[in-house]
Amino acid sequence: MPADLRVDADRLLTRLADLAVIGAIEGTDGCARLALTDEDRAGRDLVVTWMRDLGLEITIDRIGNVIGTLAGATDGPPVMCGSHIDTVRTGGRYDGNLGVLAGLEVIETLIGAGLTPERPLAVGFFTDEEGARFPPDMLGSLVYVGGLGLEDALEIEAIDGPRLGDELARIGYAGPAPVPGLVPHAFVELHIEQGPVLEAEGITIGAVTGVQGISWTEVTVTGQSNHAGTTPIALRRDPGLVAARCAAFVRDLADEIGHPQVATVGRIEFHPNLVNVVPASATFTVDLRHTDEATLQTAEARFAEFLTTTAAAEGCTVETTTLARFEPVVFDDEVVAMVEAAAHDLGHSVQRMPSGAGHDAQMFARICPTAMVFTPSVDGISHNPAEHTAPADLAAGADVLLRVLLELCGGVVESAVAP
Ligand code: GLV
Ligand code: MN
Ligand code: MN
Repeated sequence: MPADLRVDADRLLTRLADLAVIGAIEGTDGCARLALTDEDRAGRDLVVTWMRDLGLEITIDRIGNVIGTLAGATDGPPVMCGSHIDTVRTGGRYDGNLGVLAGLEVIETLIGAGLTPERPLAVGFFTDEEGARFPPDMLGSLVYVGGLGLEDALEIEAIDGPRLGDELARIGYAGPAPVPGLVPHAFVELHIEQGPVLEAEGITIGAVTGVQGISWTEVTVTGQSNHAGTTPIALRRDPGLVAARCAAFVRDLADEIGHPQVATVGRIEFHPNLVNVVPASATFTVDLRHTDEATLQTAEARFAEFLTTTAAAEGCTVETTTLARFEPVVFDDEVVAMVEAAAHDLGHSVQRMPSGAGHDAQMFARICPTAMVFTPSVDGISHNPAEHTAPADLAAGADVLLRVLLELCGGVVESAVAP
């Protein structure tokens, strides 16, 4: 590979800004493109246009994953990169989008330099990575690798009601390509860290060694709705109290287990949600994560026991649904080492680290050698419109991605010039 080959950072930043216009949250740099909404469709259409402009072969599969492939000098399974372009409702412009647009940028850099990768090189964006509208998270890549059947995935209900299959068809992205999809030669995802570690350590590149385990549960507690003024405390069956105690409990549990255990109640809804009514029901989510599977299981069991006891003490009943459950994932050591070596070669500081967030790469790790590249997040902020990464760090991450992809491709050859 030509040692001085670099991506065009301005072109990458321009694409990030152009995509961020779609679903822009006024007065911020962030965006709201929940999966399979009109905003997601508009974002998809724009990225597909860019893929087409680069002459990539585009496939859309039956769960709406979109993959653009640059032909290689030889045939065979592609080296793949990519991420997602859906966001949480209060998202930033880099989460997911960076990995997709940096992949496009790598491809445009090769084309512009008149180079063809030995192996085909593909960039994909995967449906509903966030799982914020349709749980679980990483849904499109999970279906791609055969971890969830298509028919089951299409039946998933959105938090606002519609069925996933209907929304996918409505936005025009229920494609014809089969799932599970083609097994890539290798998979690499560039992503912002979304946490504080790289910035705090003054490091430019994270060589991601794996992803912590994720456990999402939705809990519905049902009690007795009644008048808030006339119902004596001793006679209440208040699901709101149970939900509040659970939210406090999981935080205390994380404190007790210690780092890296995390625990979050991120969504809570009371019914009927009125100032002077003891709620009839409370529905809330619990997100538990840890890098060690046994510890994660302990946290789940401790929470389940607390929930049962607390609800019984208040005379309430409980229903739970698992929204997502993924064991911790370990990435391929050779690909992680390639990330480290690429960062060193480019003169960037680099550190091995696990990922706290879930990523499409963790699904690809089930079927092919996989790793990730992290770039720092200012103040460690993400899932927030204030999410930011310095342009120089974005460029560093994209250059590392370029090198690792080309190494996995087995190098490049001069493109044939048309006679
Ligand atoms: C998904 O992006 C998650 O980590 O919640
Ligand atoms: Mn992401
Ligand atoms: Mn995210």
